[in-house]
Amino acid sequence: MNNLPSFSAPKITVCGTGYLGATHAICMAVMGFDVLGFDVDQHKIAQLRVGKVPFFEPGLPEKLQEALASGRLNFTTSLDEVAQFGDIHFVCVGTPQAIDSAAADLRYVDAAFSELAARITRKALLVGKSTVPIGTAARLTRMVADISPIGSELELAWNPEFLREGFAVKDTLRPDRLVFGVASEWAEAGLRRVFRPILDSGTPLIVTDLATAELVKVAANSFLATKISFINAMAEVCEATSADVTLLAEALSLDARIGGRFLKPGLGFGGGCLPKDIRAFKHRAEELGVGQAVRFLGEVDSINNRRRVRTVDLIRELAGGDLSGVRIAALGAAFKPNSDDVRDAPALDVARLLYLEGAVVTVYDPEANANAHRLYPDLNYVGSLAEAAVQADVVALLTEWEEFRQADPDRLGALVRHRRILDGRHALDPDGYTSTGWEYRALGRPYQPRTASVQQRRDGMAQPDLAHGAAAAEDRLNNLL
Ligand code: UGA
Repeated sequence: MNNLPSFSAPKITVCGTGYLGATHAICMAVMGFDVLGFDVDQHKIAQLRVGKVPFFEPGLPEKLQEALASGRLNFTTSLDEVAQFGDIHFVCVGTPQAIDSAAADLRYVDAAFSELAARITRKALLVGKSTVPIGTAARLTRMVADISPIGSELELAWNPEFLREGFAVKDTLRPDRLVFGVASEWAEAGLRRVFRPILDSGTPLIVTDLATAELVKVAANSFLATKISFINAMAEVCEATSADVTLLAEALSLDARIGGRFLKPGLGFGGGCLPKDIRAFKHRAEELGVGQAVRFLGEVDSINNRRRVRTVDLIRELAGGDLSGVRIAALGAAFKPNSDDVRDAPALDVARLLYLEGAVVTVYDPEANANAHRLYPDLNYVGSLAEAAVQADVVALLTEWEEFRQADPDRLGALVRHRRILDGRHALDPDGYTSTGWEYRALGRPYQPRTASVQQRRDGMAQPDLAHGAAAAEDRLNNLL
């Protein structure tokens, strides 16, 4: 090979210190590398420097302390320093959904690669970790070669990331697999060196071309989203019959070919990844002329969005048919437990839809109140489950935090005005609630009224028209966005 650094002890930089980048930088330092983390956000960098993780991620603060104490982890807001320091530069900036289309907004990725390319003056490897449309790495390779003072000596690779929020440390240090998208043996050798501790522990590695590496990531997220929407579509069918989607999911999961993971019915998927990734993938496939191949992802998205509207319908039914003035305890705001991330959070959309129908909504999330307040300041936020529940007409469990799972139905019942609960995540024990006098409702489960009078009231109500409901659901969500 050419006049290359041998990667005996490569210095690593990580550009972008969000959920992905901060975790990657910290874990690389813990694994023994010298690491420099970069972000344009001075506040974030200031926090990281003093050992504060700027978001909620179990286990990460301890790893940050460990990395800082080792002296191997530093942070900067200077790209000149980054260019000087690194042999291998990981780019971990966000690729949010564009404001005016379903495409991914690549401005941060383009900026990171071009700014680095303009500054790096010795042989180095740029590694993209962000989730990008297929073909981006090839385009960036051309762009980098044009901009770089050292031309094609500055190489590019793609190393998709599969970490889940809430399990970021484990997924980084002990991933299910590693994928290296490379264009040369030198790039592969660089990545093998960086991930040696993980590879040595037996983690499978797939080495691919750049495009396949990009595709692995969006295909994985699309598969997961499809699996969730499949069981939620079955929940819609259950709602039109007397079938129970939780039993259905259990029976399906026992078929080893199907498996139970990501087959949990409920309010559906949200967050900063699955929703925008399936939309961007569909958009990119259309650009490539193969839109038909992934057209089903539009349906996956619609099924998912309908769950939010159907949840509101069930809460309205529980409240007697009209939400105006109804006091609702909304338990959860984050898109999933063990996260403070409220991007595209189903829980918050439900809270907002309830509010728009005139309900008095009080939100409590153990970690995400501040982020939720920033997004939807017109909802009430309180600091405890008990405060949310006081005098509630309906309690709605929207994010399945352990605290909500563990709540004692009778003690909770002593706080509320009416014992009515909507379990949006199939996280509660229905018997525990119904046996203590609660009306319990859940998506895709037959309704078992607590008393005859409840049944009479329900009999008098219009039953949901699922076909019409789908179109109406889209309209209501569109109004919200
Ligand atoms: C997801 C993928 O799982 C990661 O592999 C990937 O790296 C990441 O996106 C990313 O692209 O960066 P994450 O967004 O952290 O990770 O969350 P998940 O654990 O996948 O959950 C996504 C959503 O699906 C949550 O709202 C969760 O409540 C929901 N979900 C999950 C269900 O509704 N049912 C299930 O059975 C599983």
